[in-house]
Amino acid sequence: MTMPSSEIDAAARLLEQGRLVAFPTETVYGLGADAENPAALARIFAAKGRPADHPLIVHLAPGADLGYWVGSVPAVAQQLIAAFWPGPLTLILPRAAHIPAAVAGGQSSIGIRCPSHPVAQALLRAFKGGQGGIAAPSANRFGQVSPTIAQHVRDEFGTEIGSVIDMVVDGGQSAVGIESTIVDLSRLESLGPLLLRPGHIDAAQLAAVLGRSPGLPDAAAPRASGTLAAHYAPRTPLVMVSPTDLSETVRQLTAMKRTVALLHLQDGDFSGLQTVQLAARPQEYAHGLYAALRTLDAAGAALIVVEAVPDTAPWQAIGDRLRRAAYGSTGVLEGLLYK
Ligand code: TXA
Ligand code: MG
Repeated sequence: MTMPSSEIDAAARLLEQGRLVAFPTETVYGLGADAENPAALARIFAAKGRPADHPLIVHLAPGADLGYWVGSVPAVAQQLIAAFWPGPLTLILPRAAHIPAAVAGGQSSIGIRCPSHPVAQALLRAFKGGQGGIAAPSANRFGQVSPTIAQHVRDEFGTEIGSVIDMVVDGGQSAVGIESTIVDLSRLESLGPLLLRPGHIDAAQLAAVLGRSPGLPDAAAPRASGTLAAHYAPRTPLVMVSPTDLSETVRQLTAMKRTVALLHLQDGDFSGLQTVQLAARPQEYAHGLYAALRTLDAAGAALIVVEAVPDTAPWQAIGDRLRRAAYGSTGVLEGLLYK
């Protein structure tokens, strides 16, 4: 999508003045602020309702000086950057001493990513002459589903747009649809590279570059909102049901006059229900997932039933998001069926 440069310039000037601008990336929409302006960062935490100790990701223009932001760039970081930037990969590296701790939620590390979305890149090039960093969490309220179109951001922040959020830059639908893969390289000596959050770039692709599989986070891993057990959740309770049980579960719930909204892969007779069917191909599924959850959440049903996705490597990031979305709803299905 092309964008008038006047709109990009207006967004860059707002960011330079310490204001908040929502903008598209290839993963999800971000809620951006100047990463070096603590007052602007405080606005992000307030707008999202996000705890101040949850670190933000800093977005850089292609070719920006990474060395300005981080204490060191180990060889594995260079290899991952050569393979995957610009793109949906966030690297956690030691934070340079002069970068405000607020952006990292007080951590001594910092999350950095270089997005591939042309509008994000144009904004990063226009902001502070291409040498600034835009801190941006996903542009949703804390714990909620991430936005993949500009309208989702408007739905989420409604009346605050023009006051709390100064501008929403519309760059069409995010191609990837789920948040970036996060690899922690901040404790390489002791733990090696760690996969903090799975994403479109999967463990096998990382392993091919690293020459080893990334480890899984330990209990001492830095806090990451996207790694909380409950996250990415619609307001309606959400449960996952195996493909073999799907038709029968839906039939029982309907027979008991429970209103069900359904996200499914397999074909079936689900007439009378609010349904979204997504392709059984992980990249297409991820692309449509968050819009589907928003649609089903708006149906006003008692329950969102999601057909469980395959438990295979290409589905890992999707399974991860669905499990977190379902976390608060344990026992809900049993309660509805057997009460
Ligand atoms: O795809 C994405 O990453 C999107 C787009 C806008 O770039 N952003 C995003 O941001 O998902 P957010 O804030 O919703 O999630 C970023 C995750 C959080 O879970 C945060 O805690 C983690 O990155 N993170 C950032 N810096 C970190 C650090 N220094 N150590 C550990 N985790 C960090
Ligand atoms: Mg988020």
